[in-house]
Amino acid sequence: MTTQQSPAMAPMRQLPAALWLSLLIIGQAVFAWYIFALYTQPLTSGDSTIFNRVLSNLHVPDQLLANFSIALHLFGGAVISIIGPLQLIPAIRAKALPFHRMLGRIYVITAMVISVAGMIFIVTRGAVGGIYMDVGFALYGFLLFTCAVQTWRFAMAKQMRTHRRWAIRLFALGMASWLYRVEYGFWGLINGGMPGHESGTFQGPFDIFMDFAFYIPTLNRG
Ligand code: HEM
Repeated sequence: MTTQQSPAMAPMRQLPAALWLSLLIIGQAVFAWYIFALYTQPLTSGDSTIFNRVLSNLHVPDQLLANFSIALHLFGGAVISIIGPLQLIPAIRAKALPFHRMLGRIYVITAMVISVAGMIFIVTRGAVGGIYMDVGFALYGFLLFTCAVQTWRFAMAKQMRTHRRWAIRLFALGMASWLYRVEYGFWGLINGGMPGHESGTFQGPFDIFMDFAFYIPTLNRG
């Protein structure tokens, strides 16, 4: 037996996807705003200690390479958080393809910059959570960089189906960084506290689990 569905129901069926997309756009925009608002404050106030308000090791006087790489990383993080969800809006893809392509190029290049800058920070200063965070985040950077290269490569080769699969993988991984913060938020909400999280050192069992768990599930996308 086949089920006939009225065309009038189509907008209703599309609602959940539209709702998810809206939540994604708002959530990532808030993340981008958080990055800009917090990390540009030292530029206007001259108070570099603001860099270390959330993580204690982002700014260390005289360690120029690590300081520069994390600043570049943060800028790229804000850019990618704004561009990413825009790439999913069907109307932009359908009616403004050149714009979609331009954002895609910026996204790919920014993902590469974020990955390399994050790696330089890990190698020169080390992540706040120690060896587990170093390894987990470095692997995340390696995967993000690889997906960016593959997305670019297959677009250049005009293999659009493969390009699209890599682009989805790239985007899913890029979003994981935002999900990491969201998941910490939910963990706190569910438990009414943060069991397994060591504030400041990020070396509790939950922190170590999260060093990998925030991006591993996204790898089955694409
Ligand atoms: C893809 C999008 C990414 C965004 C939006 C992003 C954003 C951020 C932000 C905002 C911070 C500062 C901490 C905070 O205020 O929450 C940060 C720190 C950091 N990120 Fe990323 N990041 C991304 C990807 C990556 C990747 C791919 C790597 C690995 C190479 C990485 C490695 C790091 C490291 C090592 C830190 C410093 C942790 C510490 O204090 O020791 N991030 N990132």
